[in-house]
Amino acid sequence: MIDIHTHILHRCDDGSNSIETSIAQIKNMIEQNVTDIVLTPHYLNIYVDTDKMIIQKRFTELSAAVSDLDINLHKGGEIFLNPGIENKIDQDHCIGNSSYILVETNMSEFSPDIIETLYKLVKKGFKPIIAHPERYNYIINDIRIAEDFLHRNVYLQINAGSVLGLYGSKITKTVWDLIDNGYVHFLASDNHCKIDKYLLPLAVNAIRDRIDDYTARLLTEINPGKIFDDQKVDFFYLKEEKPDKKSIFEKILRKL
Ligand SMILES: [Fe+2]
Repeated sequence: MIDIHTHILHRCDDGSNSIETSIAQIKNMIEQNVTDIVLTPHYLNIYVDTDKMIIQKRFTELSAAVSDLDINLHKGGEIFLNPGIENKIDQDHCIGNSSYILVETNMSEFSPDIIETLYKLVKKGFKPIIAHPERYNYIINDIRIAEDFLHRNVYLQINAGSVLGLYGSKITKTVWDLIDNGYVHFLASDNHCKIDKYLLPLAVNAIRDRIDDYTARLLTEINPGKIFDDQKVDFFYLKEEKPDKKSIFEKILRKL
């Protein structure tokens, strides 16, 4: 299992507040069969500690501290889509050595700025992944915006907590609607180290139970695995239902 959205890099943002907490979280995740963790501290311009040098320092510290453990750590970030951000980000903000980049928008209003900034990012060669779209009011109110993102070469990542109903009924309904429509590419924990339970395996089980094993693996193994090699993930993966040829033939015969 691969977790592409976490806040367990210590003392960077509103996630882990110590390296001991980070190490304990990683050990717990290994026990839950996690093989790869992407560390995605917020880049919001409001956390004074959050800059590339600090994050690189913390990443080096944590990597050294868990070097004996069976886990792969990957550097990343969760970039707030402020207009003009496309001129400020570079490879250091991407996931590992790939061109995939995790981004978030404001929770309430949808603005043309979001589309324009995403367009500029894609044009520059980045592969944006929007974090937890099911939590944004504009998606809750109009799921067609989610499909529109896919047509604009933008990926979607949902949170385990949403699948498990932690954010209320509207978000739960929205996240399942996104899954049922095939608009979701990644499932991740968005682990802020605030609760003891690690939610990703529980959400994987919920998707396995309600949809199928393949979809659960697609969102937490197959698609995330492609990121590290910078392979393209399919934007639309649900096969269209083909008409039953036999029944069409029978209908024609019946008419004769
Ligand atoms: Fe996050």
